[in-house]
Amino acid sequence: MHIEPFFVEQWMNAHETTATWNIAETCVHSLTLDELLELSGGADEVLRRLKETWLGYGDIVGSPRLRAAIAALYGERIGPDRVLTANGAIGANFLALYALVEPGRTVVSVQPTYQQLFSVPASLGADVRAVRLREEDGYLPDPDTLRAACDDRTSLIVLNNPNNPTGALIDEPLLREVVEVARERDAWLFCDEVYRRLEHEPGTTAPSVADLYEKGVSSGSMSKSYSLAGLRTGWVAGPPEIIQRCLDVRDYTTISAGVLDDALAAAALEHRDKILERSLEIVRGNLAVVDEWIAREPRLHYVRPRAGTIALVHYDHDLPSVDFCQDMFDLKGAFVMPGIAFGEEHSFRLGYASARPVLEGGLAAVSAYLRTLEG
Ligand SMILES: Cc1ncc(COP(=O)(O)O)c(C=O)c1O
Repeated sequence: MHIEPFFVEQWMNAHETTATWNIAETCVHSLTLDELLELSGGADEVLRRLKETWLGYGDIVGSPRLRAAIAALYGERIGPDRVLTANGAIGANFLALYALVEPGRTVVSVQPTYQQLFSVPASLGADVRAVRLREEDGYLPDPDTLRAACDDRTSLIVLNNPNNPTGALIDEPLLREVVEVARERDAWLFCDEVYRRLEHEPGTTAPSVADLYEKGVSSGSMSKSYSLAGLRTGWVAGPPEIIQRCLDVRDYTTISAGVLDDALAAAALEHRDKILERSLEIVRGNLAVVDEWIAREPRLHYVRPRAGTIALVHYDHDLPSVDFCQDMFDLKGAFVMPGIAFGEEHSFRLGYASARPVLEGGLAAVSAYLRTLEG
């Protein structure tokens, strides 16, 4: 079996520990355990429960408490029995794709997106067809283009909403149109929804495919919106048949997710309003800083993200994105992700949800690098 090296993760691994200004990060500035305990309804109570935790494998499918807290993120269709915990969204995506992909059938995937979502199906023997999301469409999928990419062999359509790397947000009416495309082919619709609940417009929540479609499967995680990547807790939510298939795979890879991670994730989700309030304050405030910065940089432009922690910034210089990003890292210490990781040359992915001083220092370092290109 051949699997493409995962460019984004390899670039992160190679640079993140030595970067002066890490503005490639995709998580909202992570919480400390102390901060989590405070936000989760009081340190004493959470610590008391942790100390009483029995350190066996725990509930194999995830504790009832955590699964109920995850199910509460969805509508009526998704009860706790339609949720399976996993090792981060990366584990959840892998399980879901392993369960959903049929070798020899066609998988239609939007791109740009997180590479795992199309490289894993290809490695499993699917014929992967990319539907490019275009800047002029605000990086939103066109249902007719998706429809044209499907054929009799299409068994799965893959989305990522809100999108990595663009921060584009598919609203409910458009998502319902995409559901219709999947339904016409009786295909599964899988959506990586790790940036859900980080919508910048007050009162807006990204719809979930698991709520809108009987064959919709969603993945989520504690890493991005909830600032808790270190818990390595993610999940798959969807129809019982798929949850069972994921479990069949998971028995071979995971046995169970850690009981301490499970307990902390449950405490966090039970108090998610406070955590999300903090996250939204960070992403909304920081995006305003990015907006002003882009307006001051005549050779940069972007489609303003509507959700999440990241943006795809295009630069007007004739330099491949790997060279641009490596050179900028070496000269000015600013660490961003080359756009080529997403098939988008002359661009870089900016993570703007870090602590404000890191963001401001990082943007200043990018500007200093741009000045060197102008001679
Ligand atoms: C779209 C997307 N899916 C999944 C992941 C993996 O996240 P986790 O930390 O939950 O495994 C990432 C991380 O960058 C991501 O951007």
